[in-house]
Amino acid sequence: MPYALFAELRKAAPRHWNPESDGVGFWSVLGYEDITAISKDPQTFSSADANGGHRIFNENERGVGDLGSSAIGVLFISTDPPRHRAYRSTVLPGLKLTRVRAMTERLKARIAGLLDTVAEISGEFDFIEHLAAPFPLLTLAELFGVPASDIDKLYAWSNALVGEDDPTLRISPAQMAETLGDMLGYASYLFDLRRAALQDDILSLLANGTLAGGPISRANFLGTFILLLVGSNETTRNAIAHGRVAFTENPDQWRLLGEQPALMPLAVREILRCSSPVFHMRRTAMRDTEINGQPIKQAAKLVLWYAAGNRDEAVFSDPQRFDITRNQRLHMAFGTGEHTCVGNRLVEVPIALMFDALLTRLPTLRITGAGRRLLSNFINGYLQLPAARA
Ligand code: HEM
Repeated sequence: MPYALFAELRKAAPRHWNPESDGVGFWSVLGYEDITAISKDPQTFSSADANGGHRIFNENERGVGDLGSSAIGVLFISTDPPRHRAYRSTVLPGLKLTRVRAMTERLKARIAGLLDTVAEISGEFDFIEHLAAPFPLLTLAELFGVPASDIDKLYAWSNALVGEDDPTLRISPAQMAETLGDMLGYASYLFDLRRAALQDDILSLLANGTLAGGPISRANFLGTFILLLVGSNETTRNAIAHGRVAFTENPDQWRLLGEQPALMPLAVREILRCSSPVFHMRRTAMRDTEINGQPIKQAAKLVLWYAAGNRDEAVFSDPQRFDITRNQRLHMAFGTGEHTCVGNRLVEVPIALMFDALLTRLPTLRITGAGRRLLSNFINGYLQLPAARA
């Protein structure tokens, strides 16, 4: 993991220039306060697609899934205000904490079903396949109002979208085109279905919502579908996986949580701080400016390393320590400022439910090996993670 390297780089230069062999280079921003200041100033530090977007590579050149598909509207994560706020408000009503609280009993039943399967396996099993991957997908299926039997498709599409550097997920451009085509067909069908008959789910709100005074277009619906799919699933899966790794490495913290379950909300925050499921997001300087005295040229790329900010010693005492009693300033796993994650309140509930169930039903479960990592500097992810019940 890059945490020691981030600490070393931050000590040497908290705003660190990185040349790129296949690009123009970028500023690595490694400090909590700098990341916060940049995130709160979208006029100066843009996320807009036209300026390069939110990824290290230029989204306006590569397009969604590397295909530059014009069927997909700009993802609202890749817009700036005022347009960004109008887009963002189309999904917020569907992501209220009350919605996920109302789903609690069903989510508990989903977890119980997954744990029943695990309880029948003797010996090692894959924590990702059996627990960390299916649970966020089942939660998303509930939010989307689609059948649970669709989760394998959602999983494959989501993996393909974030897997640009992982040859096991991006096998060929032709295969990616087919995958993306299937996903767009599925989402487009749901758009028509929800337009024809409103249901109580987030896709219904979106399909029947308005944007800039007119109805949401199919292209905007498709873009937001992708954003919600990847934004909720890759992140939650890896938060759960990293959390269980952290408890395996720190058995005293697992014992403590068992003894004091009221620590769960703090434990979830500490899991998110230490795991930073999204390593970074990118911004582009819209004018010559400076950050804490460091001159930044117009059009320069800046990469905000949340994984570094979350372990900034200026903000978190003994930052490399996993401590579920820590009650310090808010972590930045959800980003901060203008684009703060829209799922941030909601997602803590399912993560807490999962760890609560693990504590109660499988307290001796532990991670038994290093697993297989997703090849990515964007998503801090696992593809496989071996576990055993004792
Ligand atoms: C552990 C779980 C999660 C993590 C770590 C996470 C992380 C993040 C981060 C770092 C950003 C900031 C983007 C930026 O600064 O440019 C973000 C934005 C976003 N997230 Fe999440 N996320 C999580 C869960 C979710 C869930 C459950 C949903 C939806 C159901 C979601 C949907 C989104 C969307 C739509 C945005 C874009 C917000 C905007 O541009 O205004 N995320 N997320």
